[in-house]
Amino acid sequence: MSLKNRHALVCGASRGIGAATAAALARDGVAVTLLARNAEALQKVIQNLPVVKDRQHDFIVADVNDTEKLQLAVSEKTAAHNVQILINNSGGPAPGTANDADPQAYAEAFRQHLIADQVLMQTVLPGMKTSGYGRIINIISTSVKEPIPGLGVSNTIRAAVAAWAKTLSRELGTHGITVNNVLPGYTATERLDEIFRHQAKRAGRTLDEIVALRQAEVPLQRFAEPAEIAAAIAFLASPAASYINGVNLPVDGGRSRGY
Ligand SMILES: NC(=O)c1ccc[n+]([C@@H]2O[C@H](COP(=O)([O-])OP(=O)(O)OC[C@H]3O[C@@H](n4cnc5c(N)ncnc54)[C@H](OP(=O)(O)O)[C@@H]3O)[C@@H](O)[C@H]2O)c1
Repeated sequence: MSLKNRHALVCGASRGIGAATAAALARDGVAVTLLARNAEALQKVIQNLPVVKDRQHDFIVADVNDTEKLQLAVSEKTAAHNVQILINNSGGPAPGTANDADPQAYAEAFRQHLIADQVLMQTVLPGMKTSGYGRIINIISTSVKEPIPGLGVSNTIRAAVAAWAKTLSRELGTHGITVNNVLPGYTATERLDEIFRHQAKRAGRTLDEIVALRQAEVPLQRFAEPAEIAAAIAFLASPAASYINGVNLPVDGGRSRGY
């Protein structure tokens, strides 16, 4: 049931959920290639990753919005080895209502999320097929089950990624490749801070008041640590999750009301 000798490409790995995922996978014996825009932050993450015997962790500095460069950078960096685990993850679209959103914001979000996910998947897919083992895990949002007020562009693009992932999960199973989505609840990262500051400004309330309100929505009465989301991602990446395919897995402390 081991992940030893596996290689992962973890996107959005310079902080937050991505960085925690890289650490969780490395602890399980996976050699990790990190991807994000900030080289200095990536270097710090890599220095703190658990060492994997006989193999090196590595990183790629790339902007997932720059589709051509992304494809080139990833194929160059991963030419020497197959990637069996792909974690599609990057920053969330700016907060704001759907009716106020600039139409261009939808086009940009589509490029940053769906187009980037497609390019990354196509780049690593031949290696997954050769390995007979593949895990494509997309970090999206509970908004695919219940749209979140004030996140109009994000709600829309997450649904597109969920539909893409479900379609892929039905196409790739014969190669031993599973495709699943992890839906984080409130997770203590820079992204959450940005959203709550926006909500506080819009509602004319303090940040502390918004934090208290949001914590009260969660049955566990607290936000997740990035490592708690990463633990679920690492499980889906493992051979133990071999029969889990095409699902949306909320990791939200029970906040979603549907079942
Ligand atoms: N935190 C939450 O409560 C929560 C809840 C639900 C869903 N989510 C979603 O889960 C995902 C990860 O969340 P997070 O809280 O870990 O976010 P975060 O703290 O903002 O981290 C985002 C990561 O993505 C990278 N990134 C952003 N834009 C990029 C780009 N254009 N190209 C390459 N890398 C890029 C960032 O690194 P660089 O700046 O170095 O590029 C960073 O490593 C996001 O999509 C978020 O919306 C989060």
